[in-house]
Formats: sequence, C-alpha cells, structure tokens
Amino acid sequence: MRVLVLGSGGREHALVRRLSADPDVTVIAAPGNPGIAGIAPVFPVNSTDPDAVLAVVAQQEVDLTVVGPELPLSVGIADAFARAGRLLLGPTAAAARLETSKAFAKAFMARHGVPTARFHTADSADDALAVVRSGSFGFPVVIKADGLAAGKGVVIATSLPDAEEAVLAAMTGNRFGSAGNRVVIEECLTGPEVSFFVLSDGTRALPIGTAQDHKRIFDNDEGPNTGGMGAFAPSPLMTSALHAQVMREVVDPVIAGMAAEGHPFQGFLYVGLMLTPSGPRVIEFNVRLGDPEAQVILPRIADPLTPLLAAAARGSLEASTCALADDVQVGVVIASRGYPESSESGQPIRGIAEAEAMGTSVIHAGTAEHGGQVVTNGGRVLTVVASGARFSDAIDRAYAGVRAISFDGMQYRTDIGRKALAISG
Ligand code: AMP
Ligand code: GLY
Repeated sequence: MRVLVLGSGGREHALVRRLSADPDVTVIAAPGNPGIAGIAPVFPVNSTDPDAVLAVVAQQEVDLTVVGPELPLSVGIADAFARAGRLLLGPTAAAARLETSKAFAKAFMARHGVPTARFHTADSADDALAVVRSGSFGFPVVIKADGLAAGKGVVIATSLPDAEEAVLAAMTGNRFGSAGNRVVIEECLTGPEVSFFVLSDGTRALPIGTAQDHKRIFDNDEGPNTGGMGAFAPSPLMTSALHAQVMREVVDPVIAGMAAEGHPFQGFLYVGLMLTPSGPRVIEFNVRLGDPEAQVILPRIADPLTPLLAAAARGSLEASTCALADDVQVGVVIASRGYPESSESGQPIRGIAEAEAMGTSVIHAGTAEHGGQVVTNGGRVLTVVASGARFSDAIDRAYAGVRAISFDGMQYRTDIGRKALAISG
C-alpha cells in the first residue's frame, strides 16, 4: 500500500516513521521536512490546496492519504477527496468543526450530555461583557475565541478588568481576526490535563493511547503557552476505570452524536480532558493527532497501524482494541531563541546523528537544509524521543540525547516527564 502523509511538522515526521515500520507499506510525504526527507520521498505542495494534493495522489498512485494538521481539514480536503473517490483519513469540514469552532463543540456537547465546563456563547461584545460583569462564572473566568487561533485564542482572566480586556481584544480589537467574532465564556476548571486519542471510522472508536503535554514554555509550567514543549505517554493518571469512563461518557456519545447529526466523524480524535475533582471534563477537541503527543503515542502502537488507518478511512474499522507496547515514551521539544513570541532561523544544528546513535529518535519540525547542513527554521525545531521500561529511564535517555544536540539559542524545558515520575516512578 502507498501512503501519503500530509504536513511538515514533528507529528508528520513521527507518522512517517511509524507507518514506514509496517510491512508492505511505502510512505511518501508532502510537503515534508528535512527529517522526513531522510526516510521518505517528499513532494512540494501547498497542503491547504486539495486539488494540488489530489494531483500528487494521482501522479504517485497513492492508496491512502493521512492528514496531519487541522488547516487542510478545515478547508475541506476530506470533502474534496470524497468527491474525487480517493481514500483519505481525516474528517470532513463539517465534522472538523469539533475543533474549528469552539461554539459548535460546546453546543454539541450540551446536546449530547458530554461533560464539559459550564459556558455561554456570545456573538457580540455587549453580550460577552454583560455575562462577565454578571459574575455568573466567577473568577478566574475563561474567554475563548471561537475559531482556530493557533493555540493562542484562550485567556484565563483572573479579574473583571482582565476579562473585559480579553473580550474587547477578541471582539472589537481583532486580535484573532474573524476567529474572535464570537467568544465562548467558560467556568474555570482545575485539575491535571490528559490527552486521550481515538481513531474513528464514523461509527466506531478505537482507543490508541493517552499522553500528557507540557504547554508552558518554562519549567514548572511557568511562562506563556506554546504549541507544546514536550510530552510523555501513557498518562499514569489514566487508570483502566477512568479510561472506561472517558469512552462511555465522552468518546461514545461524541461519535454517535456526530453520526446522528449527519456528520460522522472519521479520523483521529484528540480529546483534551481535565481531571477535575468532580470527574473528567472535556476542555477541547482536536480533529487530528497532537504535536508533540504524536511523537510519544505512535511508537507505542504495536499492531500494524496502516491497515487500521485504511479501515477507518473506509468506514470499516473492525478492531475494537489496539495492542500498545508496555514501554513508556518521553519527548523533549527543543525550541529556538525567542519562542513562543518569535523565532530565529538559519542556525546550524549539530549532534543529531550523535543523539540518534544513543538510541533516541530525533524528530524534525522547524528545520531546513542548506547546502547539506540542517539549520533551524522556526519556533519548535526538534523533538528528542526516548523509550524506557520506566519513566525515569526514558527521561534520562531523552535528556542525554538533548544534550548531544546544540545550536545557538536553543532552549528546552528540563522537567519533561517529571509529573509522570511523581505518579508512577
Ligand atoms: P484550549 O485551546 O481550549 O485547549 O485551551 C488551552 C488551554 O487553556 C488548555 O490546555 C487549558 O490549560 C486552559 N483551559 C481551557 N479551558 C479551560 C477551563 N474551562 N478551565 C481551566 N483551564 C482551561
Ligand atoms: N500539543 C497540543 C496540540 O497539538 O494541539
């Protein structure tokens, strides 16, 4: 089977690596990155242009396309592939609203009894201001731009003036463009966050692993939010009882509800959960794998993955369980100077081969190749991933790999995985 992985980040490099390990599978990628190009043919293409991607698929005789990021899904690449009669794993634009519209996701959860934070959707600044001023959600209160905002659309306001400012910035100040024309106002929940991943064919859902991300830039979860500075899998907080509860209270009603509403959800569903004192609550949905979560969950999938993805894309996922390895995975992101506000490019990167010789996987995200030299090209540059029988081993091995790598201005957190150690050792 010939598989095309669409995207150019760390998640897609991890997908290409994992799918390449399956028997009888040839993987190509578009547009890819230098790490991906080291293991698979890559084709330049604008991944948000479905016709351009379909042209690569026809020319390269691709049997299955796997979409990494949300943007191609939000513009309807799955719809275009369906019209063209080509197999693709990923939801239609209508089903992708679980991620692309927080107002849709919240109203959908309310319709189907999925546990989530209490909320109000406001279409005007006057309405939003009235709601925060009423104090009905207390403080802190969470203000979220409705649309895609590259992970930056959420403000946790600790006071009324902060909440008013967040509302005005989104709704009249155009901080998030049209994504902020609507806001969702939510009660602020507390508890650890866990990412829960399933693969769905539109009617069934196969759990494929859990992970925990580290969203803040600095150690001890301090500083601004980022796309994710590291992750580990599985989440030791996810007991088998809790896992069953999340399937029953969240995943099953979501898959059934989307199908009942005429928009069956096919693809990877990422459920962002907060484990509150009153039980698990959905914080957000993503309609794709996470980055860097993909880097740590994919290596744990022990069954051949490509046939599962193809079956999900065809709507005929028969497997109800997927074998996961006993080992744990830890991934440490290395970012460039200035991230997350800005990023520096063009710095030569040394030590990738040395880190890999130590048994780690060095996953590329923001890299480029200039005259045979790999250089930085963006905020999050690499994820160094290591496995171990226990978290302490995986953490030590991942950080040994990180220390083998160097470039000017590199920054990384030194505490990735410590949360897991505190729970499971
Ligand atoms: P989201 O983009 O919806 O995942 O939100 C980004 C981050 O904001 C989440 O990972 C949480 O850390 C935080 N957050 C979002 N919603 C809430 C909430 N209702 N209560 C507390 N924290 C939240
Ligand atoms: N790591 C969070 C995300 O992929 O959205």
